Amino acid sequence: MKLLYVCSEAFPLAKTGGLGDVGGALPRALLKRGVQLRLLLPAYAATMAKAKAQGLKLLQTLTLEGCEVKLWQSRLPGSRVPVWLVDVPEFSAREGGLYGDASGNDWPDNAWRFYLFSRVAEQIAMNQAGLEFAPDMVHCHDWQTGLVPAFLNEYAQRPATVFTIHNLAYRGIFDHATFAALRLPGHWWHHEVLEFWGNFSFLKAGLVFADRLTTVSPSYAEEIQTAAFGCGLEGLLHHRRSVLRGLINGIDMDTWNPGSDKLLEVPYSRRSLKKKAGNKQALQTQMGLSVLADTPLLGFVGRLVEQKGVHLVLGALPELLAKGDCQFVAVGTGQHDYEEGLRALAQQFPGKVAVHIGYDESLSHRVEAGADAFLMPSLFEPCGLNQMYSQRYGTVPVCHYVGGLRDTVVHLAQSQIAGYLSGSLGLDDIDETGFLFSEPSAEALQQTLQQMMVCYRQNELWQRLQHNGMARDFSWEASCTGYIELYDELLSARQPMVA
Ligand code: ADP
Ligand code: GLC
Repeated sequence: MKLLYVCSEAFPLAKTGGLGDVGGALPRALLKRGVQLRLLLPAYAATMAKAKAQGLKLLQTLTLEGCEVKLWQSRLPGSRVPVWLVDVPEFSAREGGLYGDASGNDWPDNAWRFYLFSRVAEQIAMNQAGLEFAPDMVHCHDWQTGLVPAFLNEYAQRPATVFTIHNLAYRGIFDHATFAALRLPGHWWHHEVLEFWGNFSFLKAGLVFADRLTTVSPSYAEEIQTAAFGCGLEGLLHHRRSVLRGLINGIDMDTWNPGSDKLLEVPYSRRSLKKKAGNKQALQTQMGLSVLADTPLLGFVGRLVEQKGVHLVLGALPELLAKGDCQFVAVGTGQHDYEEGLRALAQQFPGKVAVHIGYDESLSHRVEAGADAFLMPSLFEPCGLNQMYSQRYGTVPVCHYVGGLRDTVVHLAQSQIAGYLSGSLGLDDIDETGFLFSEPSAEALQQTLQQMMVCYRQNELWQRLQHNGMARDFSWEASCTGYIELYDELLSARQPMVA
């Protein structure tokens, strides 16, 4: 099978969050399983710089929409995955973020940038770019690539299309003037097609036109069919439910391996879990926290946006910190009010709270290794990767019971803790890996943290949770099988009937 994988991020060439992690890991896993694929990525300035180190070859120069588009071939670092980079000045001649400037404002021409990217994807998909690669399948991800299935739908003969929703909250909404400027077909301006409450949505284009839809966890596939999680698209998603499937993400077991992670002070494994303490000490020292071996250190890494439930953390922690029960380290960047809230918490509790505002890949690994517990009180979470990294690093996750978090963390109930403390439950009876709370409120988070701290003081019970998490297989193997089955099913469904 020949696959064109179209995505706006792929670690380590381009990443703002989990989309990048998946864009780096899933193509590798698919390639290992024999799928012949090309990963199509925008040639952002920083991406070009990194790709140069892998070797860059000019494949083709196209003229599209009056623009000169260069297509470069490179490789995903550390793998054999062939990467094709779409080089237009809108990507390659611009310093700053992938989607916006350093202050977090979206680039004003994002619609044009990803329209162009999608047009190039269309040309390649239809084997009209002179690249001698005719895919049977095109797999697109999130709003940035939503127009690709729509463009392809205009052809009678075309590759099959799969569209994966990583985050429905980013709908790629633009106004009618933009719709007109892009000269999109007039009949797409309809509420059953791209139009969305007086504007139009790139994401909706993918949802309407792709042959198959997937989300990055089974729970999220259900949730988005309801008004609470559907971002106004629940009706459409419910309507398309027969082609919608939830496939849980895996994690890159090489990049996130505490046994060989070069970013850690002291690598460790399940068998040498004691060494994890060296990472806690190193993190406390690096971040200016008091070096306390027996105080639970809570960690948080993430984009500082409403989705991640930062306000629950800011509501729940002060009381616990004042009582002296824990320490907290946070790494993130995003909304100004959350950044300020976290900074203020660090000022209020010197030695107990440390905050790094910014994006720091290396520090994110050190937090996963150095923290005892990891907080993910997300209001919604399509999949979430950090809770899986945490389990692999023996760091116990404390999460809201939602989306991919409920699909990947096994909750230790209060009754089990009581059973263990009273002796009616042995360690062997405990297969759980972390804590989940149902109400997205600061009170619920605080209560669950208190339960977590009771367990933390029971060394053997705590180690059991750590071991259980570390023993779990979050590799891409299983999830990758889900995608391959989906591709195969879709291709055989499209085979013409033989009389
Ligand atoms: P999302 O994609 O919604 O941001 P995920 O949990 O799927 O959430 O993935 C987030 C990824 O981005 C993880 O690899 C996480 O470590 C990383 N990340 C987020 N913010 C930062 C940051 N400030 N510094 C380093 N890594 C970060
Ligand atoms: C999105 C989601 C996150 C998911 C990631 C990768 O950014 O917010 O939950 O893990 O995509 O699929």
